[in-house]
Amino acid sequence: MPEIRRARDNNALFEYHENLAKKHGPIFLIGYGPLVRLVVLEPDLLADVLGRSHISDYTKPRDLTTVLKPLIGSHNLLVSMGLEHERARQMLNPAFHFVNLQSMISIMADRTAEAIHRLLTSSTNQPIDLQKELNSLTLTIIASSAFGQGFETIVDAKEIMSRTFTEALEAVMYRTMRMVNLIPFLARLPFWRKHIVDRATRMVNGFVDQIISDRRQGKSTSSCVGADLLDLLLSAVDDQGQPFTDEEIKEQALTFVLAGHETTGNLMAWVMYVLMTHEHVLHACRDEIDRILPNGLEPTYDHLSSLSVCEAVIYETLRLYPPAPLFTRYCIRAHTIGSEGHKQLHIPVHTTVWLNTYTLHRRAEFWPRPHEFDYTRWLRDPSTVDPN
Ligand code: HEM
Repeated sequence: MPEIRRARDNNALFEYHENLAKKHGPIFLIGYGPLVRLVVLEPDLLADVLGRSHISDYTKPRDLTTVLKPLIGSHNLLVSMGLEHERARQMLNPAFHFVNLQSMISIMADRTAEAIHRLLTSSTNQPIDLQKELNSLTLTIIASSAFGQGFETIVDAKEIMSRTFTEALEAVMYRTMRMVNLIPFLARLPFWRKHIVDRATRMVNGFVDQIISDRRQGKSTSSCVGADLLDLLLSAVDDQGQPFTDEEIKEQALTFVLAGHETTGNLMAWVMYVLMTHEHVLHACRDEIDRILPNGLEPTYDHLSSLSVCEAVIYETLRLYPPAPLFTRYCIRAHTIGSEGHKQLHIPVHTTVWLNTYTLHRRAEFWPRPHEFDYTRWLRDPSTVDPN
């Protein structure tokens, strides 16, 4: 049995924000060198920042676009804004529909069973990096659900995608921390791991081009019970009857892989951490699984709604350890958020708002005993409350 070392809940940046919030309240400015950010920890005000009524008052900040552009381009859901985002979102809404997600469950169950088997039968006596294993598992699931047999039949596809994406993301983070990505002249120079980003971009692009062309020529099909993301991307049309271009198809597909695999992999790594450090939570989940899925029964979509303890544990993990703890919006038109008689805040042009869910989820005003892991906050059925 491989040794498993504990993860650590240690995040200096967010602890710093938490302390600032205690000192200055839920709205404060924070400086990073020459850059000033507005941190807002009020849910009602944040709902205004993200809501439809202020959709044309914000864009996603240039630094986000610049950071992600080398890997996934700029014509995709994560980076685009305004009309381009609205059009793509309308065309891609079926991809988020539960009926389509339902058809992917057998892929999730198969790949997870394979990964568990591999980990349990591993003869290595080296420690296992669970975060890496789980990120690789979620990448395989998302890429198989998105690209179907195209992904599964290409030799070493999983290895290539997993290694290339990880290397590229590390290099992009390295460049971002040194602000190289933010200065176009510096970004073009062949230093600061640019060759890693360039090589990864070439490999991933060539790989996905091949998968799209194979599917167009009928050389591959979906691995899901129904259509996969690639089918949806190839058949989607806007209200003028226009389909996505090949470039858009590639960028949207890569965005799903990028946006989906690390977030979900990291969430699963934190769930493991919680299970290893809270024995009563482990027992409650195990009891539920033994009851709903006895004798290793493979989960189907219908079982999911019965797994209320596991669901509550995931929600509480998302609260304490959100995998996308910080995202941002850049104001392009001055406006006021909040409503009269309540808190209101004027947002001038050029403000970058930070949406810091990590600190927001730990505000004592909203969560009694905010630092305590208590999954019963989320239980749908009180009869399943854990006696501990
Ligand atoms: C625990 C798992 C996940 C978390 C915490 C998470 C979090 C987020 C957040 C915070 C955003 C908003 C970013 C912004 O507007 O600036 C976002 C957007 C997005 N995520 Fe996720 N995500 C998760 C899983 C996934 C998965 C599994 C996929 C796809 C397979 C995915 C695809 C996307 C896409 C396409 C967008 C852009 C949506 C749009 O703007 O219309 N995410 N995610």
